[in-house]
Amino acid sequence: MIKLGVNIDHVATLRQARYRETPDSPNAEPDPVAAALVAERAGAHGITAHLRLDRRHMQDRDIFALRKSVTTKLNLEMGNSGEVLEIALKVLPDDVCLVPENRREVTTEGGLDCAGQMASLRPTIDRLQESGIVVSLFIDPEEEQIAAAAELGAQFVELHTGAFANSTGGKREDELARLIKSAGLAHAAGLQVNAGHGLNSGNIRDVLPIPHLVELNIGHSIISRAVFCGLDSAVKEMLHLMNDA
Ligand code: PXP
Repeated sequence: MIKLGVNIDHVATLRQARYRETPDSPNAEPDPVAAALVAERAGAHGITAHLRLDRRHMQDRDIFALRKSVTTKLNLEMGNSGEVLEIALKVLPDDVCLVPENRREVTTEGGLDCAGQMASLRPTIDRLQESGIVVSLFIDPEEEQIAAAAELGAQFVELHTGAFANSTGGKREDELARLIKSAGLAHAAGLQVNAGHGLNSGNIRDVLPIPHLVELNIGHSIISRAVFCGLDSAVKEMLHLMNDA
């Protein structure tokens, strides 16, 4: 069974929209920790949160609080920055997924350039792994990146499904084929395979045949759906779509 990791960043996005300047207000809501617990009770296999350098959604205290409360698995997404690395080494999430980070982007736009950044990634990966944290690298489905991820000794890659999710027709078929091929290459290189970005109830079934998938990480579409039906139902609906196929 493919696992579901629920990314709850947008719960914090909503809170920050109103309470960025008054974080200690007793009215500050919604609480990402409460959301994590609802998602776990609904059957999510893990909780994902991204601590960005600009702190646009998750705050440091959210990550520490999630660590105390999450009982499934906490996956911290982070850019390769010394500042966030020190926090990760204090929080000790189960997993860290290293992502590229650009202050101007709306969301993580492309995969990490592992091949081009081996020298700066290696010490970060080593320090995380020395602390017992499982390391995943968020990459575009490209052979060169998979080879670099394997050489860097990461345990997982997370294949970026954004190009697939955002394309149509023949291009979409090509992107899916690229994901399928890359999952096979990653597995053959000894890497475990996750995937995510842009997945929703309309495209989830199409990615399930990607071989060797351990976990899908989904955020925006689940939180969007939750606005209408509640988070518990939104998580259950996604699990149903994943397990029914
Ligand atoms: N995986 C990674 C590495 C991400 O950066 C994101 C976005 O934060 C996701 C998965 C989830 O993407 P989406 O919000 O489009 O479901």
